[in-house]
Amino acid sequence: MKVLVIGASGLVGSHCLKYFKEKDVEVIGTYRNFKTEGTYFFDPLEENCFDFLEEINFKPEVIVHCGALTNVDYCEEHQADSENQTLTSTKVIADYCKKNNTRLVYISTDYVFDGLNGPYSETERTNPINVYGKHKLEAEWVAEKIESCIIARITNVYGEEERSKNFVAHLLSVIHSGMEKNFNLPFDQFATPIYAGDIARMIYLLVMDDKKGVYHLASTDYYNRYQLAKKVKSYFKNASHLLLEPISTQSLQQKAKRPLNGGLLNIKFTREYPQFEYTNVDAFILKNIKNGI
Ligand SMILES: NC(=O)c1ccc[n+]([C@@H]2O[C@H](COP(=O)([O-])OP(=O)(O)OC[C@H]3O[C@@H](n4cnc5c(N)ncnc54)[C@H](OP(=O)(O)O)[C@@H]3O)[C@@H](O)[C@H]2O)c1
Repeated sequence: MKVLVIGASGLVGSHCLKYFKEKDVEVIGTYRNFKTEGTYFFDPLEENCFDFLEEINFKPEVIVHCGALTNVDYCEEHQADSENQTLTSTKVIADYCKKNNTRLVYISTDYVFDGLNGPYSETERTNPINVYGKHKLEAEWVAEKIESCIIARITNVYGEEERSKNFVAHLLSVIHSGMEKNFNLPFDQFATPIYAGDIARMIYLLVMDDKKGVYHLASTDYYNRYQLAKKVKSYFKNASHLLLEPISTQSLQQKAKRPLNGGLLNIKFTREYPQFEYTNVDAFILKNIKNGI
């Protein structure tokens, strides 16, 4: 099977690229601004953006689309850019899929919900409360038009990443740096953190089994940001330079509204894959410590 991972220079995409390679899938990935090893430049907003596939003679049977503008506060203040990067780009990719009979996996978010009563199952009513969530939901509607599409919603992803952008990786890098840093962390934003490597394994299973429709991918953890950071810190004796301050979302004054009781229920996935072994935050940190990272 030939698979194209769009956004393979990012957190989720890089894990998908790596895992699919390990499973001997013929897979290639793309970057847009941040070139990583073995990725091809791809910008869906440029004309003839798919021509590079002809040049390398690669016709994907599946596209795993991880590309999006993921800075929620930036999206709130730059609505046109958010619409282009997340919605218009998905339209271009969906058009390619339609024309070429390519299956599509669209990666979405729990921000399509309002956070009044999460964690959420796949059947619950969407109601985004910020620009990023709105554009992700509209992109889902575009992706849904591809009959064979999988929409995989995720949230609070952590894992090894070249840029260490994700929250847990960032905390670990501060711990290892020894430099004092203070984090004001909301105690009232709850979600279900998930390891990027688990997402890659889950998507692989869904693709191989020809699944369709919406899947909520979550692990067994449910934390607010402050609890999550405390959990990470608790594994290190010499981390007093990592200062964690619990704070309400209201006093944080973030540009974009946040779903407070967010997160996703993985009941559907677990029902279909009862043997799947989830990684939780504890296991991830222990693995890092064991590997001397
Ligand atoms: N991380 C999370 O906690 C989280 C939570 C919920 C949902 N998601 C969703 O999961 C997907 C992957 O997120 P991530 O955390 O891996 O993000 P990320 O680390 O920021 O990576 C995003 C990737 O998309 C590429 N990209 C950005 N805009 C693009 C565009 N318009 N067209 C094509 N590629 C584009 C980036 O390329 P360059 O970096 O090379 O420019 C990068 O490879 C996104 O759809 C995001 O909405 C993530």
